[in-house]
Amino acid sequence: MKMKEYKVGLVGVGAVGTEMIKVLKERKFPCGKVHVFASRERDEKILDETYHVMPATEKSFDGLDIVLFAGKTDVALALKDAVVKAGAKMIDNSRAFRQDPEVPLVVPQVNAEDLDWNKGVIANPNCTTAIMLEAVAPLHKAKGLKRLVASTYQAASGAGAPGLAELENQIHEYAEGKKLTVKAFQHQLMYNLIPHIDKFDETNWYTLEELKMRNEARKMLHHPDLRLSCTCVRVPIARAHSESLNLEFENDITPEEAREILSGSEGVRVVDDPLNGGYPMPLDATAKYDVLAGRIRQDISRDDKKGLDMFVSGDQLLRGAALNAVEIAEHLIKRGLV
Ligand SMILES: NC(=O)c1ccc[n+]([C@@H]2O[C@H](COP(=O)([O-])OP(=O)(O)OC[C@H]3O[C@@H](n4cnc5c(N)ncnc54)[C@H](OP(=O)(O)O)[C@@H]3O)[C@@H](O)[C@H]2O)c1
Repeated sequence: MKMKEYKVGLVGVGAVGTEMIKVLKERKFPCGKVHVFASRERDEKILDETYHVMPATEKSFDGLDIVLFAGKTDVALALKDAVVKAGAKMIDNSRAFRQDPEVPLVVPQVNAEDLDWNKGVIANPNCTTAIMLEAVAPLHKAKGLKRLVASTYQAASGAGAPGLAELENQIHEYAEGKKLTVKAFQHQLMYNLIPHIDKFDETNWYTLEELKMRNEARKMLHHPDLRLSCTCVRVPIARAHSESLNLEFENDITPEEAREILSGSEGVRVVDDPLNGGYPMPLDATAKYDVLAGRIRQDISRDDKKGLDMFVSGDQLLRGAALNAVEIAEHLIKRGLV
């Protein structure tokens, strides 16, 4: 029997959108040529194909089955009703709908079942949350997560194509002895790190990126009381976010048990051979589907066996965004929801 071919649209063809086209092709997603929309009309070459990009308008979505959104929050908010009215499923990467109780927030390996109650829109979590939960959710399911303290090391491309361009440009400017241009980030990123991602919440002095991690993890793990604190830091690397995680569980857990649980989990690969240089690093996670998890050890600040420390690295453009969105689309098909 011939497999149904779906009509897929894409809004936004920057860092994440470009990656989405690559992932759709790589995974042989059952669709024809993707209809690409962005802020203005032009031709855009991705891999070996040229896409005629059209401006995204309310009339763009008629006849489409699935629309992947890799634009900004205001674009998603402005076009949501038009997508739903056209009868297409919207899979959005912005923060527009993540905390909307009517919208499932999904990483398929964590909570695919939440797709069943979608009303036309599905949200992708923040990439840092997605990478963390690939490694944390299996441990939570087995041992009951109580509290999590995270520090992140987030790549320049996490701020989109302009973020990566700025880091690369600063490296060139430095080599040529020129004054460095600072525009996409608050400070020079090359030879520096910046503990400031997204705006500050002036009631508690966390950044919105940090609060997203807590609020999104609570929603996706169905754990409204999860205690989670984190510090998000931009670091001068091109691609793949890393995170240092301190975890407290309801039940005892040993590093050996954690490795065994994670070894049997989809979306995560244990790399934990420290004496031979085996631990997660962003260069090794770049362009890979799996989140790398390692440096797994018992938390020595505790007297019991309920605490673990772990280090993870994952490609935020791929695992944290484009691949997650395409996997959501695959699961919608598998569950007969599109
Ligand atoms: N970068 C990451 O690591 C990452 C990870 C997870 C989630 N996200 C989220 O994914 C989304 C896209 O991020 P990105 O990093 O790919 O950003 P980006 O590289 O800056 O690309 C943004 C895209 O949005 C398009 N756009 C802007 N205004 C538009 C409009 N009015 N109508 C239609 N399209 C419009 C731009 O169009 P033009 O090309 O015409 O300028 C561009 O293609 C954001 O919500 C971001 O928070 C990013």
